[in-house]
Amino acid sequence: MTTLALPPGPALPRAVQAAYALTASQRALRHLRARYGDAFTVNLPVFGRAVMISDPAEIRQLFQTRPEAAENIEPNLGRMLGPGSMFALTGEEHRRQRKLLVPPFHGRRLAAYERIVEEETLRELAAWPQERAFAVQPSTMRITLNAILRAVFGAEGDDLAVLRDLLPGWVALGSRLATLPMAQVDLGRWSPWGRFLRYRRAYDAIIDRLIATALRDGGLDERDDVLALMLQARYDDGTAMSHRDIADQLLTLLTAGHETTATTLAWAVERLRRHPAVLRDLTAEVDAGGRELREATITEVQRVRPVIDLVGRIVTAETLELGRWRLPRGSRVLVSIALIHDNAELFPEPRRFDPYRFAGTKPDLYQWIPFGGGTRRCIGAAFANMEMHVVLRTMLRDFTLVPTDEKDERRHFRGVANAPSKGGQVVVRRRTATERSGDAAAHP
Ligand code: HEM
Repeated sequence: MTTLALPPGPALPRAVQAAYALTASQRALRHLRARYGDAFTVNLPVFGRAVMISDPAEIRQLFQTRPEAAENIEPNLGRMLGPGSMFALTGEEHRRQRKLLVPPFHGRRLAAYERIVEEETLRELAAWPQERAFAVQPSTMRITLNAILRAVFGAEGDDLAVLRDLLPGWVALGSRLATLPMAQVDLGRWSPWGRFLRYRRAYDAIIDRLIATALRDGGLDERDDVLALMLQARYDDGTAMSHRDIADQLLTLLTAGHETTATTLAWAVERLRRHPAVLRDLTAEVDAGGRELREATITEVQRVRPVIDLVGRIVTAETLELGRWRLPRGSRVLVSIALIHDNAELFPEPRRFDPYRFAGTKPDLYQWIPFGGGTRRCIGAAFANMEMHVVLRTMLRDFTLVPTDEKDERRHFRGVANAPSKGGQVVVRRRTATERSGDAAAHP
């Protein structure tokens, strides 16, 4: 039955709720669920007053709601990434851009990118120290950064080197500024927004050069990178993407895809070292050329350690009937990825890391939602999965990850994603050829 009231929630001031959410987000969420049920009203910076939902039927309904009735809420990120960014666009303009951006991330294309990811992984693994603890996240960050710069931007040589230096600092600064609504004032060369704009000018110059080279050199139709595909793509009316829009979208793809994938990989390492039986089975599977358990492991890592906690929508219809709630225009709805993944009815013993629960099956995409859902679902999901596959396969083929009984790493919010607090500590030993063939024989 529909009620007219919004769900109840804590009456604490916004700053207190924010501090609690930032320092103990998982605990805070579970506490709120225990107290108020699976929907409650919160008051948070950036989002303001918002209804947080975690009931599977209500989430499904929200994701299936037309954009005319509920739109995306990402105003600040859009401002950071430029007006042509997917995050800044809504309605018809968003649909138009999405139609051009989705094809490069599917099917045959992804196979072409596997080689790049494997090369970048091997380059990184070559520098790994043995028998000594180190944080794996900086490594996975470099792998996913280089993979995107090559596969998506089509950058090589000097341009690749310059972008590699420029982008991480800029994205980190932009993510921080995105959470501060008042920070977008240019107070000169050294002010945060002044620095941000300087980065932008340098970036635009490189993208202009990449585009000019691509158009001048010809052979565009033989290239697989996303920049080349964008240059050839046409809207329904036959027009091409503007170069400024291409620059904004490339930056969006990098911001959305680099740290999220790298952090999920760091969690995979963190989880696997604490689950030696899974690690053993996975390694045997790699040696035997299989992939089913690896696929299930990637799915399970994203369930127990989703790097993005929530996705949001704003009601644009006069009212939206959402399950038990009737939400007036302007209401903000946050889907709690963390809470639905922690639902014991959907995932028995939800806090247990158990990849076998997904072996041989595909998760329900309205219940397993690390990539969000509906018309705004992550367009890089298949790309990210391909990257994680190749990195894990290469890592487990060449190295033994030494198990540990250290405490689980806690979640630490890094600006874009929730990362393992110690960066995913790892100790590795390079595997010998005999070990590899021996394992294959032991696990036919
Ligand atoms: C494990 C890695 C990743 C995770 C966990 C992730 C997660 C997400 C989430 C939660 C959203 C919001 C969805 C919604 O509002 O319903 C999103 C959107 C998006 N992601 Fe990803 N993402 C990942 C990797 C990538 C990669 C590799 C790319 C591209 C190279 C990418 C590009 C995008 C874009 C462009 C959007 C905006 C889609 C739109 O507004 O229509 N993501 N992602």
